[in-house]
Amino acid sequence: MTGRLSGKVAVVTGGASGIGKASARMFLAEGACVVVGDLNSANREMLIAETAASGHGDRFRATRVNVAIEDDVAAMVQLAVESFGRLDVIFNNAGIGGAFGPVTDLTADDWDETFAVLVRGVFLGAKYAVRSMRAHGEGGSIVNTASVAGITGGSGPVAYSAAKAAVISMTKTLSLELAGDRIRVNAIAPGAIATPLLQQGRRTPVDEIASTLQPWPDGGRPEDIAATALFLASDESRFITGETITVDGGLMASGPLGGTMTKTAPSGWVGMNRGTTGQGPTIHKR
Ligand code: NAI
Repeated sequence: MTGRLSGKVAVVTGGASGIGKASARMFLAEGACVVVGDLNSANREMLIAETAASGHGDRFRATRVNVAIEDDVAAMVQLAVESFGRLDVIFNNAGIGGAFGPVTDLTADDWDETFAVLVRGVFLGAKYAVRSMRAHGEGGSIVNTASVAGITGGSGPVAYSAAKAAVISMTKTLSLELAGDRIRVNAIAPGAIATPLLQQGRRTPVDEIASTLQPWPDGGRPEDIAATALFLASDESRFITGETITVDGGLMASGPLGGTMTKTAPSGWVGMNRGTTGQGPTIHKR
């Protein structure tokens, strides 16, 4: 099978739903052998059936994994190596919303569980993937799912946001440690993406939520993140490492005031503001 990931073996965590599922499908379509690790058994089974029906079953495995548990992650990577002979790519993507509520009421256990999934899970994925990549000596690509919540306040609860900031930091530091092995480490910071996770706890349809937050008129879809993960997993991005790519329809570009400061003149007017130079502005009607 030819494709942009032809001959590569990839692990995708959280691959039974949302962004991970779209990525697993795209990686398969581009020729990779794929192992999905996920906690959700029902969704795993559905993906196994779908993959078999589409004729990709021989290049696909799905396994129960809790990314926060070291033995689970080690076994998931082992499954990839036993099934397909090697590991080239890990997409550390599994995630939850985590602890939410006023800081005075958050429990330390919920805080720790949030970090166990979102931060320890990424660390463990990297740890075992790197061991396998070093074993064949041909390098590899680690892709981590961060979030715009890890870049700015106001996009998620405090534990989630802090954990995603940690993912961005780990991506940079690990990229330095692993560059000599030709193992690239990058992250993706999605904005609002229409997935079951975004829908949780909200009545508004997820497509509507994902369509209204950012300047771009269309909502973010799982395939938008999958396409970026595919690029970072493939050799097309061979000189990119330590980078976090924001995929958010301009949400971060619109800044804290939501882009309102670009519209300082009443509509229909155009001109030149010369600041405090003593030279007056030029203003005319369009
Ligand atoms: P989703 O809920 O559709 O998929 C997440 C998958 O991760 C589920 O299949 C779930 O079973 C699995 N998972 C959760 N905890 C796990 C664990 N401990 N071990 C193994 N599997 C586990 O959510 P979505 O939206 O696809 O999220 C994927 C990633 O994208 C997450 O890291 C999330 O934080 C991140 N993200 C999502 C955004 C969005 O708007 N949907 C925005 C920014 C980041």
